[in-house]
Amino acid sequence: MKTINTINTQVEVMPLNSMLNHDNGIYGRYGGAYVPPVLAKPLERLSDSFDSIVKTDKFQRELIHYLKTYAGRPSPLYYARRLSDHVGSIIYLKREDLNHTGAHKINNTIGQILVAKHMGAREIIAETGAGQHGVATATAAALMGIPCKVFMGAIDVKRQELNVKRMKLLGAEVIPTEQGSKTLKDAVDAALGYYIEHPSSYYLLGSQVGPHPYPRMVGYFQSVIGQEARAQILNAEGRLPQCAFACVGGGSNAIGLFSGFLDDAEVALYGAEGGGNATPENTAATLSMGKPAVFQGTYSYCLVDEEGNPVESHSIAAGLDYPGISPQHANLKDTGRASYYPVTDAEAIEGYKLLSRLEGIIPAIESSHAIALACRILKGKGSLAIINLSGRGDKDAERDFEQFGI
Ligand SMILES: Cc1ncc(COP(=O)(O)O)c(C=O)c1O
Repeated sequence: MKTINTINTQVEVMPLNSMLNHDNGIYGRYGGAYVPPVLAKPLERLSDSFDSIVKTDKFQRELIHYLKTYAGRPSPLYYARRLSDHVGSIIYLKREDLNHTGAHKINNTIGQILVAKHMGAREIIAETGAGQHGVATATAAALMGIPCKVFMGAIDVKRQELNVKRMKLLGAEVIPTEQGSKTLKDAVDAALGYYIEHPSSYYLLGSQVGPHPYPRMVGYFQSVIGQEARAQILNAEGRLPQCAFACVGGGSNAIGLFSGFLDDAEVALYGAEGGGNATPENTAATLSMGKPAVFQGTYSYCLVDEEGNPVESHSIAAGLDYPGISPQHANLKDTGRASYYPVTDAEAIEGYKLLSRLEGIIPAIESSHAIALACRILKGKGSLAIINLSGRGDKDAERDFEQFGI
């Protein structure tokens, strides 16, 4: 067993300037902006505004101020002793679940709301799956006093009821989408449709997906996770981890953690995809089972049928239930820098139970996929690892997991 009285994971919230890469929205053969002409200009304006504002000291000061005093950063890096003993490795949890509003999503919404404010936005629109991004956007919009509309698939409205109540309480209008599978993909379609009709609105996208500049902006604002985690593990252990794990929906919390270690070839990066029930008809494992295609404004992997048309995804976790994926993760997969594995619904519920009972931490069902994958890969290895705990499980506590024996 590890001695814990010497663990020091203290770090300051640092300016994110060094985390800005100049990818211009292209990641190997992936990325870009495949949008109707009406959106080309607003997206170009967004990209230019982001580039000019983000480098200023004033912006960095404001960002740090809100991340620190409002969101509660830095989030702790916690040594999970009982989980470590159970698995036979040395496991730390990056506690994004402890952020204000309960997930990593607030890192991105605080960053983007400051960009929106700078651009003089009069209305914020957003999509949401699990409701965490919707809550984080409604929160940031309330903070800045800007009206907010959140599009959400009708199925997700039912399975994440608590978050719908929270968004309404925060003053946002929640607009259920009855199209398609009534999940995240359809919420993105509805938000994009509204944006096409109202290009003066600020579309605050919640994951590392969609057309340029969203993957770049979202990746940048989430890189605070990896920047902190790297400094924290060096303080605590005096060395880098051998592995880093995160769940992958659109890919924002995973890129946030990975970006702290991308240049450290010795750190293996693992993404846990929503594997559904492990059949091609019932999965959200886009990188494991999809093909490259243009989808919702970007070129990346996508779950497609035999004709190459996007198909519906299925995952127990609303936040992972999406047939697309970040173009940066597509490139990390192709280059072999990161590995992605499906985790089934049943395995995720095992992870959910395990962390609750071993550590007294109820994880979001999304994050539980990362716990399950880490347990599978780290079993008996004695490796030093970080798992990104992307969110807390309050929103899932009332769900009926009985069919799986919970
Ligand atoms: C707690 C939590 N984790 C993970 C995700 C997946 O999103 P991403 O892949 O963008 O991190 C979500 C999405 O709603 C979420 O709420």
